[in-house]
Amino acid sequence: MSDNNAPDIRKGLAGVYADYTAVSKVNPETNSLLYRGYPVQELAEHCTFEEVAFLLLRGELPNAEELDDFKRECWNGRALDQKTIDMIMSMPTDCHPMDVLRSAVAFLGSYDADHFTVSSNHIRWVGRQLLSKLPTIVALDIRRRRGDGYVEPRKDLGFTENFLWMVFGDGPDSPLNKPGDVECFEKSMILYAEHSFNASTFTGRVITSTMSDPWSAIVGAIGALKGPLHGGANEAVMHNMIEIGDPANAEQWAKDKLANKDLVMGFGHRVYKKGDSRVPTMEAAFKKLATEHEGSEKWVEMYDILAETMYENTSIKIRPNLDFPAGPAYHIMGFDIPFFTPLFVMSRITGWSAHILEQYESNSLIRPLSAYDGPEERHLQK
Ligand code: COA
Repeated sequence: MSDNNAPDIRKGLAGVYADYTAVSKVNPETNSLLYRGYPVQELAEHCTFEEVAFLLLRGELPNAEELDDFKRECWNGRALDQKTIDMIMSMPTDCHPMDVLRSAVAFLGSYDADHFTVSSNHIRWVGRQLLSKLPTIVALDIRRRRGDGYVEPRKDLGFTENFLWMVFGDGPDSPLNKPGDVECFEKSMILYAEHSFNASTFTGRVITSTMSDPWSAIVGAIGALKGPLHGGANEAVMHNMIEIGDPANAEQWAKDKLANKDLVMGFGHRVYKKGDSRVPTMEAAFKKLATEHEGSEKWVEMYDILAETMYENTSIKIRPNLDFPAGPAYHIMGFDIPFFTPLFVMSRITGWSAHILEQYESNSLIRPLSAYDGPEERHLQK
């Protein structure tokens, strides 16, 4: 356009600052990600997911007493009532598990008598409810598709252990009895918890900005996360790896994708252009996990070949994002591929809740402008 008055349109809002946030800081220059000021790598190394959830929701790490209270509150919220169990059991077994999550959250919200009177406390309560109940919903959905029923959550186990118990039980082959699996899963939960104004978080903030209720904001965020350009990428990564089959095919597979201008899932990022800050921690956890599971070395070999081929054969040196190591890690642990994105939701509920609260407490309706480029004004021929 030669018109000097043409609006400055940034497709996908790329490079646009929409607001301030105190929840997390993504610095693409230094490849760093801070949750409330703390580097995510330090949190993944030294904290439990519950401590990180508390940090995101409340702004500070908990002391021992605060952590005990928080855990107790989460334990008490874990069980599902019969109406919710029946609702989940009534859904088709061939729909995407993200559809089950979206419907279950909407269903739970419809029973919340307070959802017309949103307040900071109400948003915090909804966040804790979902942090507690989402793993139970995901576990039930995994089980019902295998022909199994509801397993009561346990109050004597932490977030990760309780979830693994509900999905896999505590038999000798259960990931619950493999410390490497527990550690890797817990790290993935911490790394997936928060990432500033990504598409699903922003969706949640947009919905909150209309003064709608937090259940609706989370339902919208789940819908946004489902897409393969966002959360759905961890599923696509594993489908691709299975399609490649053998590490010997990986280099040519990636070159063919690039030659066809196809996207390779698990690579690239809208903000990070020199590497995703979360990848080194998740990659190390995935590679350690693979050494503990016989027959899994091929995923590591394939991972390394794909990463190198993408880097060497793209002018912008495209690097992996968090979904690239997370996908094969969840596969090795024994999760079915369509559940990888619901696992992401179980963690990201913390970041979403923190942002919904932040938006609510300093609200301004989010309503950008659009530049019209349709037909000139015209009139009905009547
Ligand atoms: N595979 C192949 N090519 C890719 C690519 C990928 N994963 N990611 C980016 N590119 C290409 C783009 O097509 C673009 O090519 P062009 O200049 O010929 O049009 C170029 O690299 C620059 O892209 P860039 O501006 O860095 O990407 P973006 O900001 O528009 O998109 C994503 C970011 C995340 C949407 C994109 O990288 C993508 O779709 N990745 C795959 C999905 C994924 O893993 N999502 C999870 C994100 S955490």
